[in-house]
Amino acid sequence: MIKPTALKRGHYECKSLDDTLPVLTDLLAFEVVRQGSGQAAVKHPNTDWELVVHEGAPEAVDKPHLHHYGVRVETLDEVNAAYEYLQSQKERYKLMRVSRPHENHFAHSVYFREPGGNDWEIEYYDHEAVVRGQRNAINPWREKMSEERFPGRGYLPQALSHGTRECDDKEVSARFYSEVLGLEIAGGGRSSVYIKHYETPWYVVVLPGRTRHYVSELNRFTLQVETEQEVVEAHRAFRTSGKDIGIDEVQDLQYDNGEVSFVFSDLDRNWWDICAAR
Ligand SMILES: [Fe+2]
Repeated sequence: MIKPTALKRGHYECKSLDDTLPVLTDLLAFEVVRQGSGQAAVKHPNTDWELVVHEGAPEAVDKPHLHHYGVRVETLDEVNAAYEYLQSQKERYKLMRVSRPHENHFAHSVYFREPGGNDWEIEYYDHEAVVRGQRNAINPWREKMSEERFPGRGYLPQALSHGTRECDDKEVSARFYSEVLGLEIAGGGRSSVYIKHYETPWYVVVLPGRTRHYVSELNRFTLQVETEQEVVEAHRAFRTSGKDIGIDEVQDLQYDNGEVSFVFSDLDRNWWDICAAR
Protein backbone atom coordinates (compact mmCIF):
# COMPACT_ATOMS: atom_id res chain seq x y z
CA MET A 1 0.00 0.00 0.00
CA ILE A 2 1.21 3.50 -0.70
CA LYS A 3 1.12 6.14 2.02
CA PRO A 4 -0.03 9.36 0.38
CA THR A 5 0.71 12.63 2.13
CA ALA A 6 -1.90 14.43 0.01
CA LEU A 7 -4.53 14.20 -2.68
CA LYS A 8 -2.63 16.99 -4.33
CA ARG A 9 -4.05 17.64 -7.78
CA GLY A 10 -6.74 16.90 -10.23
CA HIS A 11 -5.88 16.79 -13.93
CA TYR A 12 -8.55 17.90 -16.33
CA GLU A 13 -8.70 17.93 -20.11
CA CYS A 14 -10.28 20.75 -22.07
CA LYS A 15 -10.39 21.71 -25.72
CA SER A 16 -9.01 25.23 -25.53
CA LEU A 17 -7.42 27.00 -22.56
CA ASP A 18 -8.64 30.32 -24.00
CA ASP A 19 -12.23 29.12 -23.62
CA THR A 20 -11.97 27.14 -20.38
CA LEU A 21 -9.73 29.26 -18.14
CA PRO A 22 -12.11 32.27 -18.09
CA VAL A 23 -14.92 29.94 -16.98
CA LEU A 24 -12.79 28.69 -14.09
CA THR A 25 -11.63 32.14 -12.99
CA ASP A 26 -14.70 34.27 -13.72
CA LEU A 27 -17.51 31.84 -12.84
CA LEU A 28 -15.90 29.55 -10.23
CA ALA A 29 -13.38 31.84 -8.44
CA PHE A 30 -10.22 29.91 -9.33
CA GLU A 31 -6.88 31.65 -9.76
CA VAL A 32 -4.30 30.72 -12.37
CA VAL A 33 -1.12 29.77 -10.49
CA ARG A 34 1.03 28.52 -13.40
CA GLN A 35 0.70 28.56 -17.14
CA GLY A 36 2.86 26.80 -19.71
CA SER A 37 2.43 25.59 -23.23
CA GLY A 38 -0.78 23.59 -23.49
CA GLN A 39 -1.47 23.52 -19.78
CA ALA A 40 -2.28 25.71 -16.80
CA ALA A 41 -2.66 25.06 -13.10
CA VAL A 42 -5.53 26.72 -11.28
CA LYS A 43 -6.38 26.78 -7.59
CA HIS A 44 -9.26 27.99 -5.51
CA PRO A 45 -7.96 30.41 -2.83
CA ASN A 46 -9.57 28.25 -0.09
CA THR A 47 -8.50 24.80 -1.34
CA ASP A 48 -4.99 23.37 -1.65
CA TRP A 49 -6.17 20.97 -4.32
CA GLU A 50 -4.75 22.19 -7.61
CA LEU A 51 -6.42 21.54 -10.89
CA VAL A 52 -4.06 21.11 -13.83
CA VAL A 53 -5.94 21.99 -16.99
CA HIS A 54 -4.62 20.33 -20.14
CA GLU A 55 -5.43 21.61 -23.58
CA GLY A 56 -6.23 18.27 -25.24
CA ALA A 57 -7.34 19.08 -28.75
CA PRO A 58 -10.45 20.62 -30.26
CA GLU A 59 -11.71 17.07 -30.73
CA ALA A 60 -11.07 16.08 -27.07
CA VAL A 61 -14.03 13.96 -26.05
CA ASP A 62 -16.74 15.42 -23.87
CA LYS A 63 -16.44 13.94 -20.42
CA PRO A 64 -19.34 11.99 -18.93
CA HIS A 65 -21.35 13.75 -16.25
CA LEU A 66 -19.77 11.51 -13.60
CA HIS A 67 -16.43 13.14 -14.33
CA HIS A 68 -17.53 16.52 -12.99
CA TYR A 69 -16.01 18.68 -10.28
CA GLY A 70 -17.97 20.79 -7.81
CA VAL A 71 -17.55 23.98 -5.79
CA ARG A 72 -19.44 24.73 -2.59
CA VAL A 73 -21.37 27.91 -1.74
CA GLU A 74 -22.59 28.84 1.72
CA THR A 75 -26.31 29.47 1.18
CA LEU A 76 -29.20 28.10 -0.85
CA ASP A 77 -29.90 31.57 -2.25
CA GLU A 78 -26.48 31.50 -3.86
CA VAL A 79 -27.36 28.37 -5.83
CA ASN A 80 -30.39 30.16 -7.26
CA ALA A 81 -28.32 33.30 -7.91
CA ALA A 82 -25.67 31.17 -9.64
CA TYR A 83 -28.34 29.76 -11.95
CA GLU A 84 -29.49 33.26 -12.91
CA TYR A 85 -25.96 34.52 -13.39
CA LEU A 86 -24.85 31.50 -15.45
CA GLN A 87 -27.94 31.87 -17.65
CA SER A 88 -27.06 35.53 -18.25
CA GLN A 89 -23.45 34.64 -19.14
CA LYS A 90 -24.18 31.56 -21.26
CA GLU A 91 -23.23 33.10 -24.59
CA ARG A 92 -20.25 35.07 -23.36
CA TYR A 93 -18.59 31.97 -21.85
CA LYS A 94 -19.98 29.53 -24.45
CA LEU A 95 -21.64 27.41 -21.78
CA MET A 96 -23.29 24.37 -23.34
CA ARG A 97 -26.08 23.89 -20.83
CA VAL A 98 -27.12 25.17 -17.43
CA SER A 99 -29.44 22.96 -15.40
CA ARG A 100 -32.18 24.36 -13.17
CA PRO A 101 -31.39 24.23 -9.43
CA HIS A 102 -32.48 20.96 -7.90
CA GLU A 103 -32.22 19.08 -4.61
CA ASN A 104 -30.78 15.63 -4.01
CA HIS A 105 -30.24 14.25 -0.46
CA PHE A 106 -29.88 17.71 1.14
CA ALA A 107 -27.58 18.98 -1.64
CA HIS A 108 -28.92 21.78 -3.80
CA SER A 109 -27.04 22.23 -7.06
CA VAL A 110 -26.85 23.71 -10.49
CA TYR A 111 -24.77 21.99 -13.14
CA PHE A 112 -23.33 23.48 -16.28
CA ARG A 113 -21.05 22.31 -19.05
CA GLU A 114 -18.08 24.48 -20.00
CA PRO A 115 -16.93 24.68 -23.64
CA GLY A 116 -14.04 22.29 -22.94
CA GLY A 117 -16.55 19.44 -22.53
CA ASN A 118 -16.61 19.19 -18.73
CA ASP A 119 -19.49 19.50 -16.29
CA TRP A 120 -19.28 21.65 -13.16
CA GLU A 121 -21.52 21.73 -10.14
CA ILE A 122 -22.20 24.67 -7.81
CA GLU A 123 -23.64 23.12 -4.65
CA TYR A 124 -25.01 24.04 -1.26
CA TYR A 125 -25.48 21.51 1.55
CA ASP A 126 -28.40 21.82 3.94
CA HIS A 127 -27.17 21.67 7.55
CA GLU A 128 -29.52 18.70 8.07
CA ALA A 129 -27.03 16.59 6.11
CA VAL A 130 -24.37 17.28 8.77
CA VAL A 131 -26.89 16.51 11.53
CA ARG A 132 -27.51 13.14 9.88
CA GLY A 133 -23.81 12.37 9.92
CA GLN A 134 -22.89 13.15 6.31
CA ARG A 135 -19.33 14.26 6.92
CA ASN A 136 -18.75 15.56 3.41
CA ALA A 137 -21.50 18.13 4.03
CA ILE A 138 -19.37 19.98 6.61
CA ASN A 139 -18.14 23.28 5.15
CA PRO A 140 -14.78 22.49 3.57
CA TRP A 141 -13.24 25.89 4.30
CA ARG A 142 -11.58 27.25 7.43
CA GLU A 143 -12.19 30.88 6.72
CA LYS A 144 -14.76 32.31 4.42
CA MET A 145 -13.60 34.13 1.35
CA SER A 146 -14.76 37.74 1.33
CA GLU A 147 -17.12 39.02 -1.31
CA GLU A 148 -14.54 41.53 -2.61
CA ARG A 149 -12.63 38.54 -4.00
CA PHE A 150 -15.54 37.64 -6.29
CA PRO A 151 -17.99 40.53 -6.47
CA GLY A 152 -21.12 41.11 -8.47
CA ARG A 153 -22.31 37.58 -9.24
CA GLY A 154 -24.64 37.00 -6.31
CA TYR A 155 -22.82 33.81 -5.34
CA LEU A 156 -19.40 33.04 -3.93
CA PRO A 157 -17.75 29.65 -4.46
CA GLN A 158 -16.06 29.08 -1.09
CA ALA A 159 -14.05 25.97 -1.98
CA LEU A 160 -13.43 23.27 -4.53
CA SER A 161 -15.25 20.47 -2.72
CA HIS A 162 -15.24 17.36 -4.88
CA GLY A 163 -14.55 15.49 -8.06
CA THR A 164 -16.35 12.42 -9.37
CA ARG A 165 -15.56 9.17 -11.15
CA GLU A 166 -17.35 6.09 -12.44
CA CYS A 167 -16.64 2.58 -11.25
CA ASP A 168 -17.92 -0.93 -11.96
CA ASP A 169 -18.48 -2.21 -8.42
CA LYS A 170 -18.19 0.24 -5.54
CA GLU A 171 -17.36 -2.38 -2.89
CA VAL A 172 -14.44 -3.71 -4.91
CA SER A 173 -13.24 -0.21 -5.81
CA ALA A 174 -13.52 1.02 -2.21
CA ARG A 175 -11.29 -1.82 -1.05
CA PHE A 176 -8.75 -0.84 -3.71
CA TYR A 177 -8.79 2.84 -2.68
CA SER A 178 -8.20 2.04 0.95
CA GLU A 179 -5.91 -0.99 0.73
CA VAL A 180 -3.78 -0.04 -2.28
CA LEU A 181 -3.98 3.75 -2.53
CA GLY A 182 -4.11 4.42 1.22
CA LEU A 183 -7.11 6.75 0.99
CA GLU A 184 -9.86 7.24 3.55
CA ILE A 185 -13.36 5.95 2.84
CA ALA A 186 -15.30 8.98 3.98
CA GLY A 187 -18.86 7.78 3.56
CA GLY A 188 -21.21 7.34 0.68
CA GLY A 189 -24.75 6.45 -0.22
CA ARG A 190 -26.43 3.26 -1.36
CA SER A 191 -24.51 3.25 -4.61
CA SER A 192 -21.70 5.76 -4.03
CA VAL A 193 -18.46 5.82 -2.10
CA TYR A 194 -16.63 8.99 -1.05
CA ILE A 195 -12.86 8.88 -0.87
CA LYS A 196 -10.38 11.45 0.39
CA HIS A 197 -7.02 11.96 2.01
CA TYR A 198 -7.25 11.68 5.80
CA GLU A 199 -6.06 15.23 6.43
CA THR A 200 -8.01 17.29 3.92
CA PRO A 201 -11.71 17.87 3.29
CA TRP A 202 -11.90 17.58 -0.49
CA TYR A 203 -13.16 14.25 -1.76
CA VAL A 204 -13.96 12.17 -4.80
CA VAL A 205 -17.42 10.63 -5.27
CA VAL A 206 -17.25 7.30 -7.08
CA LEU A 207 -20.43 5.85 -8.54
CA PRO A 208 -21.19 2.82 -10.69
CA GLY A 209 -21.86 4.15 -14.20
CA ARG A 210 -24.90 2.62 -15.89
CA THR A 211 -22.88 2.66 -19.08
CA ARG A 212 -19.17 2.97 -18.41
CA HIS A 213 -17.23 5.74 -20.16
CA TYR A 214 -13.45 5.74 -20.38
CA VAL A 215 -11.34 8.88 -20.61
CA SER A 216 -7.65 9.58 -21.23
CA GLU A 217 -4.91 9.99 -18.62
CA LEU A 218 -5.26 13.77 -18.99
CA ASN A 219 -8.13 13.21 -16.54
CA ARG A 220 -6.67 11.90 -13.32
CA PHE A 221 -5.92 12.51 -9.65
CA THR A 222 -2.44 12.98 -8.19
CA LEU A 223 -1.38 11.39 -4.93
CA GLN A 224 1.73 12.80 -3.33
CA VAL A 225 4.05 10.63 -1.24
CA GLU A 226 6.89 11.67 1.03
CA THR A 227 9.99 10.50 -0.83
CA GLU A 228 11.30 9.87 -4.31
CA GLN A 229 12.15 6.33 -3.21
CA GLU A 230 8.49 5.59 -2.43
CA VAL A 231 7.54 6.60 -5.98
CA VAL A 232 10.22 4.37 -7.46
CA GLU A 233 9.19 1.45 -5.23
CA ALA A 234 5.50 1.85 -6.01
CA HIS A 235 6.36 1.96 -9.70
CA ARG A 236 8.34 -1.26 -9.44
CA ALA A 237 5.62 -2.99 -7.42
CA PHE A 238 2.83 -1.89 -9.77
CA ARG A 239 4.84 -3.01 -12.80
CA THR A 240 5.71 -6.43 -11.38
CA SER A 241 2.59 -7.43 -9.45
CA GLY A 242 0.08 -4.66 -10.13
CA LYS A 243 -2.39 -6.92 -11.92
CA ASP A 244 -2.92 -8.86 -8.69
CA ILE A 245 -3.94 -5.77 -6.74
CA GLY A 246 -6.10 -3.98 -9.32
CA ILE A 247 -3.59 -1.95 -11.31
CA ASP A 248 -4.23 -1.88 -15.05
CA GLU A 249 -1.71 0.16 -17.09
CA VAL A 250 1.53 1.60 -15.66
CA GLN A 251 3.42 4.28 -17.60
CA ASP A 252 7.14 5.10 -17.33
CA LEU A 253 8.65 7.14 -14.52
CA GLN A 254 8.89 10.84 -15.35
CA TYR A 255 11.30 13.38 -13.97
CA ASP A 256 10.25 16.96 -14.48
CA ASN A 257 9.48 20.21 -12.67
CA GLY A 258 11.49 19.01 -9.69
CA GLU A 259 9.28 15.92 -9.24
CA VAL A 260 9.38 12.23 -9.95
CA SER A 261 6.06 10.67 -10.86
CA PHE A 262 4.32 8.00 -12.87
CA VAL A 263 0.83 7.64 -14.29
CA PHE A 264 -1.25 4.49 -13.92
CA SER A 265 -4.81 3.29 -14.33
CA ASP A 266 -6.83 1.26 -11.86
CA LEU A 267 -9.33 -1.58 -11.87
CA ASP A 268 -12.01 0.73 -13.32
CA ARG A 269 -9.57 2.18 -15.87
CA ASN A 270 -9.60 5.48 -14.01
CA TRP A 271 -6.27 7.33 -14.06
CA TRP A 272 -4.00 8.41 -11.22
CA ASP A 273 -0.42 9.49 -10.74
CA ILE A 274 1.89 9.26 -7.78
CA CYS A 275 4.49 11.97 -7.28
CA ALA A 276 7.15 13.19 -4.86
CA ALA A 277 9.48 16.16 -4.82
CA ARG A 278 13.07 15.28 -5.82
FE1 LIG B 1 -21.19 16.39 -7.60
